[in-house]
Amino acid sequence: MSVNFSIHYQPDNQRINERLITRQCNRLLRILDIDDRDLSILLTDDEEISWFNSQYRNKFGPTNVLSFPAAEGDQPHIASAAYRELGDIIISLDRAAIEADELDTTLHSRLVQLIVHGLLHLLGYDHERSKKEAQKMKKKEDQLISRLKQYRSEGMTHLAINVDHIATIRQARGITEPDPVAGAAICELAGAEGIVVHLREDRRHIQDRDVYLLRETVKTKLNLEMGASKEIIGIALDLKPDMITLVPEKRQELTTEGGLNVAGQKKKLAKVVDKMEKAGIPVSMFIDPEKKQIKASRDIGATFVEIHTGRYCDAVSEKERELEFQLISDAADIAFQMALRVNAGHGLDYLTTGRVAALDTIEELSIGHAIITRSVFVGLDQAVREMKEIIREANRIG
Ligand code: PXP
Repeated sequence: MSVNFSIHYQPDNQRINERLITRQCNRLLRILDIDDRDLSILLTDDEEISWFNSQYRNKFGPTNVLSFPAAEGDQPHIASAAYRELGDIIISLDRAAIEADELDTTLHSRLVQLIVHGLLHLLGYDHERSKKEAQKMKKKEDQLISRLKQYRSEGMTHLAINVDHIATIRQARGITEPDPVAGAAICELAGAEGIVVHLREDRRHIQDRDVYLLRETVKTKLNLEMGASKEIIGIALDLKPDMITLVPEKRQELTTEGGLNVAGQKKKLAKVVDKMEKAGIPVSMFIDPEKKQIKASRDIGATFVEIHTGRYCDAVSEKERELEFQLISDAADIAFQMALRVNAGHGLDYLTTGRVAALDTIEELSIGHAIITRSVFVGLDQAVREMKEIIREANRIG
């Protein structure tokens, strides 16, 4: 699949976010199940669209959008796989800007509406054919636009902070300082939207006392990360965190290594999900960015998946990083489309977070090590605020 963009004209006072529009187009093709097809979009001005209008349609003057199906004939359009190329959509940015003003919306939103309209023409919808056809096309347009809006409809990507690393320092001394409970409060005051703790079977960092105190003190959301062991399941049911995240847990590992193999233990994990559901605790599965794991998580009734970003963060070459990022981006889209809520985390730092935060299928990022280590130098409050700023900026730019 590819969406080819050409921009022949740049309005003076408007910046066209080509990346954002391309992403919306790719999503549209996926929603319509024609993501194996190619689409060309030309953004131009009134003058050029007038030329196309008179040259190919014998009509004079500018219009907002024109569609030219790749295949000719009476039924040029229908998603017959014989034509990989869907056709061309031509949009006048002059018209789109005027209409955006009239409709009190942004140029970007108006462009997306016009692309949806043009694409439906390429697929054979035609509002000029009859009143009934016009209604059918309008209904489809509204459906598609509302489906597109579901992407991160909740607003900004949330930052949940993993405070295990504070407990690791405490345990190294075997005393009571630094206290992850106090750390969690500072994180929340600096704007974190959630606190994450991993109560490991070997209690190497977070202790039972921490989770029970945090249950009392956390004002945002407490996410208990845990292995699916009997003892910890019992604690979770007693503690009632706002959600749990199931992770694989090996005693010898320094930190959680790979994602959970949900597909390989569906029966066992379905029972955990069931128990938590009865107690009103939503479950997230920490998984590698793989369709098989996403599907298995959906099948067993998980509410969330947390996509493992470790391989993207650890990549040693630009090529590898790009590849890993694409896997995360695709996995987030797939999970979103399967109606799962999508979080991501592991290894994210002040350089790698921005791109992941810009993915608008992802609701929340879970970050620990980078923030706690930076806090040694700049203080915890400042370290959290800097990360929040990176996320805010990534959300703004898209
Ligand atoms: N998500 C999960 C499931 C984790 O196990 C961890 C590590 O504790 C994190 C996110 C945070 O990773 P990091 O500490 O590398 O930011």
